[in-house]
Order: sequence, then structure tokens, then C-alpha cells
Amino acid sequence: MLKQLDIAELGNPILRKTAARVTAIDEEITQLIDNMIYTVKSVDGVGLAAPQVFESKRAFVMASNPNPRYPDAPVMEPAAIINPVINSKSDEQIIGWEGCLSIPGIRGLVLRSISIDVEYQTLQGEKISATYHDFIARIFQHEYDHLEGIMFLDRIKSNNDLVTESEYQKIIRSV
Ligand code: NI
Repeated sequence: MLKQLDIAELGNPILRKTAARVTAIDEEITQLIDNMIYTVKSVDGVGLAAPQVFESKRAFVMASNPNPRYPDAPVMEPAAIINPVINSKSDEQIIGWEGCLSIPGIRGLVLRSISIDVEYQTLQGEKISATYHDFIARIFQHEYDHLEGIMFLDRIKSNNDLVTESEYQKIIRSV
């Protein structure tokens, strides 16, 4: 049965730990990923990393879909990303809005590489090489940061780049 998982919030030490490699793709990690996909959809997220649900493991899900929190998100099939590696990042970067389920009510402008080359394992144990661009590359970089104990707030250049959720909703609806 799928379960909506509790989400660790800013200040919880688990969000600051370096997560451990997943050593076996077994029933336990499969169930964790299934519950993470269920949870991220239930709370209108586009990505969720295992440390955010109190599992300090190198795994995250990407599940971009337009929703009230991210009206312009591209549609993608939910993807399980296990033991990810970012092999290269484009020098070209772009500033964009980010939020985090672990930092409710806050949005910020974060500079990220436009494209990245990555490797990861799937739940089937398959090794995948992929190139991501734009919003999906942004999700990947944000979720990868969670595995290193980094929060998007750490990447904010100025406090002026932080806004509340309701101000953010006004901004995106005015453009
Ligand atoms: Ni996050």
C-alpha cells in the first residue's frame, strides 16, 4: 500500500548530512521510491529526495507535472534516480525560481546550469546516461544537492531573491 511520507523541514539535521550510496536495489528501496512518488504528487512537488523523507540515501524522484505550485512545469513520467552522478554541467547558467517541500512558504531565485550530463541507476538496476536541460536539469541539480546536505537557500545570492509563496504566485501570474 502506498503511504504519504512525512517531510523533514529546514532545521532538521538529516537535511544537512551527506547521504549514503544505495548498495542494493531491493524491496526496501523500491517501496521507498514508490512512496516518494506518491508523496511528491500528493503535495504538488516536482521532485523529492530521500533525505527529505528521513532516509539518508542517495536516491531521489523527479516527477515534473503542471500543478498549482508549478503551473508551467513540463510533463514527465516520474523517474527514480538512484546513486546519481553529475558528470558535467554547462558553463551557461540561468536564474530561475525554486521552492522546496522542506522549506514551506518560501521561494528563491537560484542560478543553475542550463544543461547537465548525468548517470544514475534505475529501480531495475539499469545504468542510465542522460542529458537534461532547462527545468528538468534544475530539478536534478536541486535534488542532487539534497544528497550533499545542501539547501537551495545556500545558493541564494541576495536576500532580495527570496519571496513568500503568495508573493511568488503574484509574480508568476503577472508575467
Ligand atoms: Ni528541495
